Amino acid sequence: MRCAVVGAGAWGTALADLLARNGHGVRLWAYEADVVETINQKHENVRFLGGHPLSPSLEAVGDIGRAVEGVELVTLATPSHVLRRIVKSAASSLPRGAPLVVATKGIENVTLSLMTEVAEQEVPGATVVALSGPSFAVEVVAGQPTAVVVASKREQAAATTQRAFSSAYFRAYTHTDVIGVELGGALKNVMAVATGIAEGLGLGFNARAALVTRGLAEMTRLGSALGAQQNTFAGLAGLGDLVLTCTGSLSRNRAVRYRESRTFRGSTSSQRHRRADDERAPSGGRSMKAKEPVQEFFSIGDVCTLTDLKPHVLRYWESQFKFLHPAKNRSGNRVYQRREIELIMLVKQLLYTEKYTIDGARQKIDEYRKSGELRSVARSALDSQAVESMESELRSILAILDGQPEEKGIKS
Ligand SMILES: NC(=O)c1ccc[n+]([C@@H]2O[C@H](COP(=O)([O-])OP(=O)(O)OC[C@H]3O[C@@H](n4cnc5c(N)ncnc54)[C@H](O)[C@@H]3O)[C@@H](O)[C@H]2O)c1
Repeated sequence: MRCAVVGAGAWGTALADLLARNGHGVRLWAYEADVVETINQKHENVRFLGGHPLSPSLEAVGDIGRAVEGVELVTLATPSHVLRRIVKSAASSLPRGAPLVVATKGIENVTLSLMTEVAEQEVPGATVVALSGPSFAVEVVAGQPTAVVVASKREQAAATTQRAFSSAYFRAYTHTDVIGVELGGALKNVMAVATGIAEGLGLGFNARAALVTRGLAEMTRLGSALGAQQNTFAGLAGLGDLVLTCTGSLSRNRAVRYRESRTFRGSTSSQRHRRADDERAPSGGRSMKAKEPVQEFFSIGDVCTLTDLKPHVLRYWESQFKFLHPAKNRSGNRVYQRREIELIMLVKQLLYTEKYTIDGARQKIDEYRKSGELRSVARSALDSQAVESMESELRSILAILDGQPEEKGIKS
């Protein structure tokens, strides 16, 4: 089958790679020229999904009309805020009858339209399919077992989509409740923010379990009121995605990141889990075990989540600041320690907040080193950015709850 995937972020790339590995001819439309280039030349999306080899048959293109021309299945995987504009720009080139699989999750600001509704409004008469469920792009591209839901009012389109994507490690279940499947993928983020805050405040696993469970009940009630089927929320697109987003360390949700930052300040999540396991064990020596120092190591994915930086930015900084030189493990992957993450946060603060040039930041860090303040300044850079990120997240949430437009600040 000839397929197009629109949007070459992490998710679009992982889905395009999956389709290509399933033997389909796939064109992937990317917004950035460098993404087109690295996918075609190196078979890697260095910018959005670095470190994962992609199927050599996958073709990236920068012209959206050419991407969708003559295909039998189109998958949309752009961020939600640009979906309408991108679908509008491609509408006249979209082949009639080809199902539009909407893998973007979210609810459009102002119109409150679901993503399939946005696609239908821009392409009247289109056959839309919502693809949702617990699925981190990095795990899909790594071939780890994943199950999703493909929902459409037209069962034939859902079945076609199911066949196209299904593989030995990727299972797609069909559904007819498009509203429920899409709401599950969008509303889970509210609960992820809440559980992130609860964990950041150290409220414990009881609180998290309560929030997830009561959150699911609220999502189900809201979904019901909006025309969804209640039992959809008990499935992959509801409970499944909720559990992933509220507990998965790969979640990009900013509040979850805050949780990780807070956790990082005290103990790593792996330490935390070890302690929880210890408490469940019947042995008597658990408090001693909990106090044992555990070496902290973080993957590049963890560091990007903790610092809110893209991998290519991190790699660029490592080429510019000699003191950022993470060790590599046996597989050649970077392994960071706590101290390096503190330094990365200090570099981020100097470059983004205090507006130093690279040279200026190098000199400033040298001054801190000479005066013996480097460790404490780096630590407080990590702390203050975690708090700042939390405050800005809370302000956005309050503005949304008040019905006020979100304030646009300078991103740090
Ligand atoms: N990343 C995941 O694991 C994952 C999993 C399931 C669903 N999703 C959903 O997929 C969607 C895309 O997420 P992602 O993680 O792939 O995003 P991403 O941040 O990795 O990629 C962003 C993509 O959007 C493009 N883009 C950015 N600004 C643009 C603009 N102004 N105009 C056109 N294109 C622009 C970029 O070029 C890039 O292709 C989201 O709705 C997300 O909820 C993501």
